[in-house]
Amino acid sequence: MKILLIGAGGREHALAWKISQSKAVRKLYIAPGNAGTAQAGTNVAIETGDFAALGKFVSANAVDMVVVGLENPLVNGIVDYFGEHPELRRIPVIGPSKAGAQLEGSKDFAKKFMMRHRIPTAAYRTFRAEEEADAQTFIRSLQPPYVLKADGLAAGKGVLIVSSLEEAFRELHEMFSGKFGTAGNKVVVEEFLSGVELSVFALTDGKDYLILPEAKDYKRIGEGDTGPNTGGMGAVSPVPFADKTFMDKVESGIIRPTVEGLSKDGIPYKGFIFFGLINVGGEPAVIEYNVRLGDPETEVVLPRIETDIVELFQAVADGNIGGKSIRIRQQTAATVMLVSGGYPEAYEKGKIITGLDETGDDCLIFHAGTALKDGRTVTAGGRVIAVGALAESMEAALAVSKRNAGIIRFDGKHYRRDIGFDLTQGHR
Ligand code: AMP
Ligand code: GLY
Repeated sequence: MKILLIGAGGREHALAWKISQSKAVRKLYIAPGNAGTAQAGTNVAIETGDFAALGKFVSANAVDMVVVGLENPLVNGIVDYFGEHPELRRIPVIGPSKAGAQLEGSKDFAKKFMMRHRIPTAAYRTFRAEEEADAQTFIRSLQPPYVLKADGLAAGKGVLIVSSLEEAFRELHEMFSGKFGTAGNKVVVEEFLSGVELSVFALTDGKDYLILPEAKDYKRIGEGDTGPNTGGMGAVSPVPFADKTFMDKVESGIIRPTVEGLSKDGIPYKGFIFFGLINVGGEPAVIEYNVRLGDPETEVVLPRIETDIVELFQAVADGNIGGKSIRIRQQTAATVMLVSGGYPEAYEKGKIITGLDETGDDCLIFHAGTALKDGRTVTAGGRVIAVGALAESMEAALAVSKRNAGIIRFDGKHYRRDIGFDLTQGHR
């Protein structure tokens, strides 16, 4: 079969790598892809938001299945676009409907959904600009730190955690004044939960689901989890504290009620659900939903999956995921993200990357922000390359990742050397 994968990051390179291993796949296209995806398939220069051009490409090239890597096209209704198009409606698209993508596209929608289906999450209220005074009163009733979330998609920047009332009021006002554009027309104010976070993923056909390996990502730029938030500086899977007792609670209290809730609400959903969870004294709660896999979590989740992922996608399309099982490797996967100097603030692109051909066969390299220019691989984003490994222990996987992270070179390269630091024995 022929598959079109949509996206251009490390997650999509990992997906392309995994999809290209499937016996069922004859041709893989990636739109728009990066220098790494070009090694696993054929890049196609179409932007991820251009549904008409993507649809035309699918028809013209007899593509059999579309896999959507990132949230924006899902929130903007790519699944509905294909479903309503006479020539495209029979092509399965892996990803939720526009209604389902609201789990990520609207924090207020996600909170209401969790309340309705009794899924544990932080207490909250949602306010509009004209309710600023009420929002202030609610914030006063909470303990610091204060959590403010722009309702809509804000490129991962819409969540603010501030320690003083003064700052909270100022940020609230700025959000209502358009700091995050229309995403801040509504603001969710919620209780701060204290605990360790992890990412859990399910693949659902809207009725049943399979649980994928869990992962922990490291969002801060600096070692010891310091400095500003990034898209993610590294990840590991499995997560030691996510033992059977904990994961049973996650499944019965969060995953199952979420899938059942979607079905009860009449929301079509055939794709991934990303549960951003926090462990509060052994009890899991939802911090956020995403409607796609995580990045860089995918770079450690997929190497642990032994099962042919296209077989699972086909089962999702057929509504038969309940009849499938998933084989998971017991080893540990880790990845370290090489980022551009200056990231997550301003950084330069176009730096030549060398050393890629000197890395060992024992590492897994996924390109996040790279491009091909005059036959050379150059940096094209803040997050540039995820350098990972699969090994018998987290320490062993990280040793391979870090050794190879040192071999790859580009001007301004930065990476964290302490990924997994809080998961080693004796830390807590
Ligand atoms: P989100 O974009 O919803 O993932 O939020 C970004 C980050 O903010 C999360 O990964 C958490 O670290 C933090 N966060 C969000 N909501 C809360 C909360 N209610 N309590 C504590 N931390 C939170
Ligand atoms: N690593 C977090 C995310 O993909 O949203």
